Amino acid sequence: MSWEDEEKEKGMTRRDWVRFGMAAGALGALGGLGGLVTGQLLPPPLQFTGEIRETIQYTKFPPTDPTADLWWNPRAGTPVKAKDFDKEWKGATGVWRGLFQNNQWIPGTGYPCLIIRIKRESTYFTEPPASAVPAKLPEGFKLYFDDPTLDPANNGTRIIVLFDRCVHLCCYPGWHVINNPPPDRGYVVTPPTYAVFGENPVYCICHGSQYDPMLLIVETNPKNDALYVGAERVHGPAPRALPVIPVKSQGGILVGGLADPAWYIYC
Ligand code: FES
Repeated sequence: MSWEDEEKEKGMTRRDWVRFGMAAGALGALGGLGGLVTGQLLPPPLQFTGEIRETIQYTKFPPTDPTADLWWNPRAGTPVKAKDFDKEWKGATGVWRGLFQNNQWIPGTGYPCLIIRIKRESTYFTEPPASAVPAKLPEGFKLYFDDPTLDPANNGTRIIVLFDRCVHLCCYPGWHVINNPPPDRGYVVTPPTYAVFGENPVYCICHGSQYDPMLLIVETNPKNDALYVGAERVHGPAPRALPVIPVKSQGGILVGGLADPAWYIYC
């Protein structure tokens, strides 16, 4: 199901929100005019009080495949904690830099993201050397969360956060939320997530693209020529990697960090 469908289910589509924003803007302008010219005749300007949250917050995912475990849905609107990912390959949907009003996320705002705990190992996991990362990450941020002391029985915890807009036509790829039809196995790059660990990669049901969160590589965003780090595409039609969102932990809560906005500008 698309993001737009999800928004509809919440009662407000992106179009509705844009309309609301325009109406609010118009009312605000008129209210200002009313204050000058007509006194009490027009309603007062709408007061907007909201905040953009740098912490990553869970978002609700609509029911899809009955075999999918949407464990995070009851947590929608609350911050994502690293320790919530108490099993390897556990994933969730969230939003970074979402606009919240009265503690409620305003659908359509912020960067939708996938939060995925991968296996913490070094045989198959790949990432660019620090010298090849094409932007300076903000202080304290890394390309992924990595803590050897969290779940030491599994060699620690490693969590990747990906921008959840497909580089093909901007659908919303999912992590283990749609298993039927299963992802096609005609891979252009062998994905260790599937080939070694038996887990489906990130899967965009719209046209079948897949991305492997164990393979971080540097690619070019053709919209602006920006180099970025992303999860390698292992099945088309997507032509390139899905950008990561750098993260850090703040008191156990995952916070996103902006390396370069150009990484995400393509939809
Ligand atoms: S939009 Fe994702 S495969 Fe086409």
